[in-house]
Amino acid sequence: MEWVGGVVGSGPVRRRRVITKGHAPAGQAGGNDVKLLVTGGAGFIGSVVTRMLLDAGHEVVVLDDLRTGHREALAPDATHVEASIHDAARILTPDAGFDGVLHFAALIAAGESMVKPEVYWQNNTVGSLALINAVRAAGVPRMVFSSTAAVYGNPTELPITETAVKAPTNTYGATKLAVDMALTSEAVAHGLAAVSLRYFNVAGAHLAGDVALGERHDPETHLIPIALEVAAGRREKLQLFGDDYPTVDGTCVRDYIHVADLARAHLLALDAATGGQHRIYNLGNGNGFTNRQVVDVVREVTGHQLPVEVAPRREGDPAELVASSALARDELGWVPRKPTLHDMVGDAWAFYRTHVLEQS
Ligand SMILES: NC(=O)c1ccc[n+]([C@@H]2O[C@H](COP(=O)([O-])OP(=O)(O)OC[C@H]3O[C@@H](n4cnc5c(N)ncnc54)[C@H](O)[C@@H]3O)[C@@H](O)[C@H]2O)c1
Repeated sequence: MEWVGGVVGSGPVRRRRVITKGHAPAGQAGGNDVKLLVTGGAGFIGSVVTRMLLDAGHEVVVLDDLRTGHREALAPDATHVEASIHDAARILTPDAGFDGVLHFAALIAAGESMVKPEVYWQNNTVGSLALINAVRAAGVPRMVFSSTAAVYGNPTELPITETAVKAPTNTYGATKLAVDMALTSEAVAHGLAAVSLRYFNVAGAHLAGDVALGERHDPETHLIPIALEVAAGRREKLQLFGDDYPTVDGTCVRDYIHVADLARAHLLALDAATGGQHRIYNLGNGNGFTNRQVVDVVREVTGHQLPVEVAPRREGDPAELVASSALARDELGWVPRKPTLHDMVGDAWAFYRTHVLEQS
């Protein structure tokens, strides 16, 4: 068996219905009667995907124990079950009629995962295995999993394709790679239609009508929201870890993807999921930006001078992480609509000003 690259397997197929509105084949349900479980739906990305699923007419149950999520990010039109993914079998019963599971729930801080690895294995891997067991027992046909660029570690090729060497440099990435592997086995042995989406750096915010959903991790470890905290006067300065990398300005290069673009890929992935296969797609823009380029855009958008301090390199930080999302574009028909840093920083700042600063 080939592990964790491209498309694997052609096992038996469980029953399934169509997710994306308007894509239903003649004679089939048009997507309005699809029932989905979203784990981690009170978090940054899961809350945005929940709204898009509801907007597409689907029924959504959110499973989130709120250990790092936000009650106010929960969609009023979704049912919220406040419980851990370890107890997913309570909700995913054979009679509950779920058509799919989107699995976002996880602990996500790479640095913390090196200090408390047991917590990360227990939550991210043991919890996901409990969820996969419940999915199988309930006969749920498909599952989409939030994997990560962290599974690749220090890349041996750029841009990074799905079949690149997987060698995580932190426990967080390893816990996610283990789940990717479990999904491959599950698809091949038991017919699950599985999709892993390997996100690169997710940024921006979802602003639609009176809905505003953005990034609020505590502690925050992501560059753009930290830079916005500096711009808002909540931090004194921004630390850049290393300016002697072999990149155009010496700072690390990362690939950023807007959360709304990422969220749309989940609906496409649900439709593309095929029984007995584990499909794996990288999601990034294929454009790298250096940390200094991010700082420049944050300065432009916020009008703040943003004091910066160069700190020593952090262990395990690769110089450059840029995705090839060619497979997602070709097979899912996914095209990012907000690919620029200005789009992402602009939306993140709009969210931060109106929903973090004004409400605290
Ligand atoms: N944010 C990024 O840039 C990024 C990049 C790559 C991958 N990812 C992955 O995307 C997913 C979502 O990330 P996010 O930024 O929205 O994180 P987040 O911390 O905002 O959301 C995670 C949610 O999962 C919930 N949760 C955690 N463990 C749980 C458990 N055992 N049972 C029930 N709920 C639980 C939390 O309460 C929270 O609401 C994660 O799986 C993460 O690994 C994120």
